[in-house]
Amino acid sequence: MQADDAHLQTALDRVRSAPDLEALRALERESRVLVDEGFAAARQSPPERRKEAFQSVQRAKEAIEAAIRARKDEFEAAALESERSGAGFDPTLPAPKPRRGSLHPITQVTRELEDLFTSMGWRVLDGPEVELERYNFDALNISRDHPARDTMDTFRCDPEGKLVLRTHTSPVQVRAMERLKPPFRAIVPGKVFRNETVDASHEHTFHQMEGLCIDRGVSVGHLIGTMKTLLRGVFGRDIEVRLRPGYFPFVEPGFELDARCPFCKEGCSVCKQSTWIELLPCGMVHPNVLAAGGIDAEEWTGFAFGLGLSRLTMLRYEIDDVRLLLSGDPRFLEQFA
Ligand code: DAH
Repeated sequence: MQADDAHLQTALDRVRSAPDLEALRALERESRVLVDEGFAAARQSPPERRKEAFQSVQRAKEAIEAAIRARKDEFEAAALESERSGAGFDPTLPAPKPRRGSLHPITQVTRELEDLFTSMGWRVLDGPEVELERYNFDALNISRDHPARDTMDTFRCDPEGKLVLRTHTSPVQVRAMERLKPPFRAIVPGKVFRNETVDASHEHTFHQMEGLCIDRGVSVGHLIGTMKTLLRGVFGRDIEVRLRPGYFPFVEPGFELDARCPFCKEGCSVCKQSTWIELLPCGMVHPNVLAAGGIDAEEWTGFAFGLGLSRLTMLRYEIDDVRLLLSGDPRFLEQFA
């Protein structure tokens, strides 16, 4: 084993002076081969010297392994030291940009409308998304047998059906009446839920914005004026409107308010060639609803409207599939940053 000792000593020296990590790895492989050869030679040696031969190779093996570890530590310490000292660090390079999120298009439209209405003295209210059936239906003059109560449309939250996911923002009308003294004006943006089969134009969860104005002597003229102001705010210019009769149990009279198509003069795909788009249902608050909210219908009058925020957002940005709104898909959302 004497001859091989010399080999192993050389290997040790080379490991100790390895110039870099790559060279060290090559030496590691080489010395393994060398050690294997050393053991093979020891096995061939005469029986009386065999034990000593094995021990000698084993010692050399351990010495080389220790030297490799030590050299690796030296390289690592040097790398760390150079990093710490700032060598190769250019402080003038721009930092990596953090990924910034952006406001959802519905949030953007909501905030714009909130600004518009608060500038006219309206307040912004909130209401529970899990609502009492009483507020969602009864207080709004929606009778027990009204089709809107059908379990097809309403998500129920308890076996008795006392709690529902609100199917519209209208229940906040009654909550507002209970809480605020007339006169008052309020908008209520928020999520609503319906048990719908989802497709490009139907979602189980969507956004509405309720509006309610209670004062003395409120007329349909006030309603129309407010809606024209809303349209001017959203589309940046005057837009003609028209009222058609519409039925909702909580308003009397009730209307469908249409707006002149903001995108064309002669008809286009958005207005289905009619030059009118259905904007929102609205009407004069039904006396039964005023009464449910504890307001004297002899003294006070009001108008209400139910704006489809999801629909308006889609119209505004020409989004053709409602499912995109809740998709959370960055490819969609980044377009509104
Ligand atoms: N809440 C009704 C719905 O979601 C919409 C509505 C109609 C709201 C007439 C109103 C209104 O305030 O006056 O179908």
